[in-house]
Amino acid sequence: MTTTHNDVPQVRRLGRAPATEDLSPVERASIDELRALQLERLQWTLRHAYLNVPFYRRKFDEAGVHPDDCRELGDLAKFPFTTKQELRENYPYGMFAVPKDRIRRIHASSGTTGTPTVVGYTEDDLDAWADVVARSIRAAGGRPGDTVHVAYGYGLFTGGLGAHYGAEKLGCTVVPASGGMTARQVQLITDLRPEIIMVTPSYMLTLLDEFERQGIDPRSTSLRVGIFGAEPWTEQMRHEIEDRLDLHAVDIYGLSEVMGPGVAQECVETKDGLHVWEDHFYPEVVDPLDDVVLPDGDTGELVFTSLTKQAMPVIRYRTRDLTALRPGTARPAFRRMDKVTGRSDDMIILRGVNVFPTQIEEIVLATEGLAPHFQLHLSRKDRMDHLTVVVEADADTPTERRGAAAAEIATRVKDGVGVSVGVEIVDPETLERSVGKLKRVVDQRPPA
Ligand code: DLL
Repeated sequence: MTTTHNDVPQVRRLGRAPATEDLSPVERASIDELRALQLERLQWTLRHAYLNVPFYRRKFDEAGVHPDDCRELGDLAKFPFTTKQELRENYPYGMFAVPKDRIRRIHASSGTTGTPTVVGYTEDDLDAWADVVARSIRAAGGRPGDTVHVAYGYGLFTGGLGAHYGAEKLGCTVVPASGGMTARQVQLITDLRPEIIMVTPSYMLTLLDEFERQGIDPRSTSLRVGIFGAEPWTEQMRHEIEDRLDLHAVDIYGLSEVMGPGVAQECVETKDGLHVWEDHFYPEVVDPLDDVVLPDGDTGELVFTSLTKQAMPVIRYRTRDLTALRPGTARPAFRRMDKVTGRSDDMIILRGVNVFPTQIEEIVLATEGLAPHFQLHLSRKDRMDHLTVVVEADADTPTERRGAAAAEIATRVKDGVGVSVGVEIVDPETLERSVGKLKRVVDQRPPA
């Protein structure tokens, strides 16, 4: 069937809004009801952290604040932030607020550089997590009885198990494929006919190529909804994936320190940013330079305070993700966050100009004759940093087109981002493929 993604809601079973009666009571709450619930939960969380985590007691005392000082939600701004560095310093169990025998599960961040960050969950925490993921899958168009292929990695990473228990809680059949063994994933999707796939957008591209390599038209699969997250991706990438797969591509956000996937989710009927599940996670956006809380609508660093977590409450955790908060739409009481297109850590500062990989992604995907696979190589010559965009050509792109495409990218980056970059077009299938979270930037600079 050759429908565009705009036509799909009329002809597909999935990809429609849930009936109001399917929503949980809190999803139907008014803003006032939600704010009252948040305040009550925030006061509980501050007290719980103060009484049970020596780190928080010390920080609050040093800042001259006490949980009793929180009388309204705005009072949260008086409390100190928590950083990833502080979580590391309290490795492994220093941030836990309950005795070890109440911890049912541990996850940890990859920790490729230095100490990993360990997070713990009580039984109630796991329940709340499964609830928000179930809610997220339903917002994405999933229903009880659907089959969900989970290709997020299982293990210490929160993606696989987080998606898994949420899908089960919604009443779906789960295929716990995890990441890797790409050819087998394609066979599982072909044979088990899942309606939904949960995977990083970059690994979805790898799977798409594998479908084509096996001579299967990806648009012919049973997949109707893709729930993509764990890394930044752009609107251009959404269109690329939706067109090639004939499904709805929606965004899921989360981070292990706050819970895992399911902190925020885009609704399929609006695809207009991610509703933050604010009954569990209280968002603020702050100016990364002076730490002042910004009004909704302004872009800054996203900060989260957990509202229900028992094992490891986090107070004003600095995510380093850049976004803005906006009023709710499909779930009116729940504010939306803009797609996270950049993380302060991913930002490349090139001759004084901030460059985000997503800015380059938009340009590469809008340039004809190229595959959606690219890397950013950072090198140093004559004490100056240089960025080279290395992109794969499409299989049928003639050689002349490659030169023109390279020139187009260089011009668009110069005009749109404001820096000069080198561009290298390479043969199809030469760049390393993602099997999970993609690493876009290859830093080839000598160590400082
Ligand atoms: O990536 C949790 C997750 C798993 C989310 C599966 C969605 C799907 P961490 O490994 O702790 O947890 O990494 C968290 O990944 O601070 C963002 O920088 C980035 N991230 C997560 N989701 C998105 C998204 C999981 N939808 C870090 N868009 C976060 C952009 C995302 N970045």
